[in-house]
Amino acid sequence: MILQNYLVYKNLLCYSLLIMAKTALVTGILGQDGPYLAKLLLDKGYKVYGVTRRYSNPNFENLEYVGVHGKIQYVEGDMTDESSLMNLIKSLRPDEVYNLAAQSFVGSSWDLAKMTTEVNSLGVLYLLNAIKYFSPTTRFYQASTSEMFGTSHINGVQDDNTPFYPRSPYGVSKVYAYWMTVNFRESFGLFTANGILFNHESPIRGIQFVTRKITDGVARIKLGLAEEIRLGNLDARRDWGFAGDYVEAMYLMLQQEQPGDYIVGTGESHSVKEFVEAAFRHVGITNWQDYVKQDPRFMRPAEVPDLKSNPKETMDKLGWKPKVNFDELVAMMVDADVKRLEALKK
Ligand code: NAP
Ligand code: GDD
Repeated sequence: MILQNYLVYKNLLCYSLLIMAKTALVTGILGQDGPYLAKLLLDKGYKVYGVTRRYSNPNFENLEYVGVHGKIQYVEGDMTDESSLMNLIKSLRPDEVYNLAAQSFVGSSWDLAKMTTEVNSLGVLYLLNAIKYFSPTTRFYQASTSEMFGTSHINGVQDDNTPFYPRSPYGVSKVYAYWMTVNFRESFGLFTANGILFNHESPIRGIQFVTRKITDGVARIKLGLAEEIRLGNLDARRDWGFAGDYVEAMYLMLQQEQPGDYIVGTGESHSVKEFVEAAFRHVGITNWQDYVKQDPRFMRPAEVPDLKSNPKETMDKLGWKPKVNFDELVAMMVDADVKRLEALKK
């Protein structure tokens, strides 16, 4: 009898937990931020739907690295296909949508300006319209970016009062998406939030981005698999944080009473050269100049020389702060690349 009551109670509990579980739809699930955000949401009891594009050969490596592949329900959609997004919002009516999908590589955005605009700008309009028509209580997070500030700053930092001056088709496309996100909030009362995130990195950062290119290169040199790293502008400065910390800020933005826009960064900036030095130092190499070659192929038609956040307001409002500092981030990424390459060598 006691056992029977226990089983009834257990089933009821599971059933009500299932009913109560919040749902989140995450676009860009296969990228860098998607897996970290999915892990955070799953840990909080969410049911997570991850949007993937049609693939001949799907790559779930990043999700496997973070340990969430298999816990996510994958659904098909494309940011350039309005009806696919409408169908997803209409059928799932998720509590929260995190729009992380983008052509996110600044360097390619000059050659791929139209596609960058279709994915990063129009795709956001499609999602917002779908929410407006089919699920107006859904809360929406837009992955906005410090790249929107471009060369603009106030006393050397960027914060909520800094005007946008984007320097790449990528930056321009994100400014459109930023304002659409604000506009749908103000016009239709949707709960929409922009996270203006400064650069954030991790062991699953795409290999084209400078930090991962450096840590992968340093690991290869350390293991005798490569002799040099070819880079562009070593003087560019970025405010680099850890992606795992930044997804917490995304989540918190959608838990606030009122929607808003937030700056997320560490408040510290370092040059590419400093990143290179730190990465080589971590594997015991001090003469890094012998291994780094400057290559004009990696220079950009218009550069963003310095990005440095003032995240104070966000920290106060969200009660958020980054946990991983610059040196810890560099060490984490170099160690992960050394480990990965050592395993491949065996
Ligand atoms: P990421 O690694 O490049 O991932 C982007 C994801 O978008 C990929 O999974 C990609 O899918 C997906 N995607 C691209 N085109 C798509 C389309 N047409 N339809 C559906 N999905 C598409 O980027 P991330 O570093 O995780 O960044 C996440 C978001 O934050 C991006 O919007 C980025 O612009 C923004 N952001 C990033 C940073 C940063 O420092 N990481 C800073 C500020 C803002 P495939 O795997 O199929 O290619
Ligand atoms: N990728 C790359 N490769 N960048 C290089 C290289 C190189 O060989 N050499 C120097 N750089 C410089 C770039 O010119 C840039 O100034 C800086 O390193 C950082 O480049 P990326 O790592 O490609 O990142 P990003 O700052 O252009 O863009 C990233 O951060 C944005 C937020 O500020 C991306 O994640 C964007 O999606 C994101 O919005």
